[in-house]
Amino acid sequence: MPSLAQHLMANPVVSAVYEGLWRPTFTRIFSLGGPGTAEYDKAFTAYLARTGERQILDVACGPGLYTRRLAQHLTGDGRAIGLDFSPAMLARAVHKPHDRTTFIRGDAHHLPFPDDTFDTVACFAALYLIPDPLPVIDELVRVTRPGGEIAIFTSVQTAVSRIPGVQLVGRMTGYHFFGDDEITERLRQAGVSRIEQTIVDQGQFVLAHKDHS
Ligand SMILES: C[S@@+](CC[C@H](N)C(=O)[O-])C[C@H]1O[C@@H](n2cnc3c(N)ncnc32)[C@H](O)[C@@H]1O
Repeated sequence: MPSLAQHLMANPVVSAVYEGLWRPTFTRIFSLGGPGTAEYDKAFTAYLARTGERQILDVACGPGLYTRRLAQHLTGDGRAIGLDFSPAMLARAVHKPHDRTTFIRGDAHHLPFPDDTFDTVACFAALYLIPDPLPVIDELVRVTRPGGEIAIFTSVQTAVSRIPGVQLVGRMTGYHFFGDDEITERLRQAGVSRIEQTIVDQGQFVLAHKDHS
């Protein structure tokens, strides 16, 4: 069953204000306790958007803000595909075309791609609002080629998220605060051994490389 947060993301009004208002506000909320999230986010995205002829998948791309950023230095046949299940978000995404992006509707639990397809698979600011999120991590790993990278930005439990009122709001909206090792452990179980996790303020950035079999 979709969570309240997922319902909101399917709403055309929320989609319309997402890029300019909602995402920046959430990034600020993630920065509670320090100024680091926005800065780290910039560096993380710049690294992932490095030049090359790469195939990138941006899972739960919303209006495509990051899909476009990831695509900006691609060369040759490099492409960035954004996938989301909200038609309202995708309508925003295709509103600002970029010659190296493609947007498709799909469910993160069942990515419509063969195994070992992408050089980079990103999933930003989404896992915490997807019910039953851990199987999505298996899907991210499945579609990444051996040696390719999986990049995740999501929530983590902190002193702030342990405040009872914050937990209550989380439960009511379907927002999940991941335990410190929940994401990294699932990546390990999916067969990934090179994992870097950086906890910044109220969020975590994870960069993992799929093993060569
Ligand atoms: C908070 S937005 C994040 C958008 C973008 N990744 C960013 O960082 O700005 C979360 C997105 O996840 C999408 N989403 C939620 N559940 C999904 C699912 N099961 N499959 C695909 N997309 C999903 C929502 O429609 C929404 O666009």
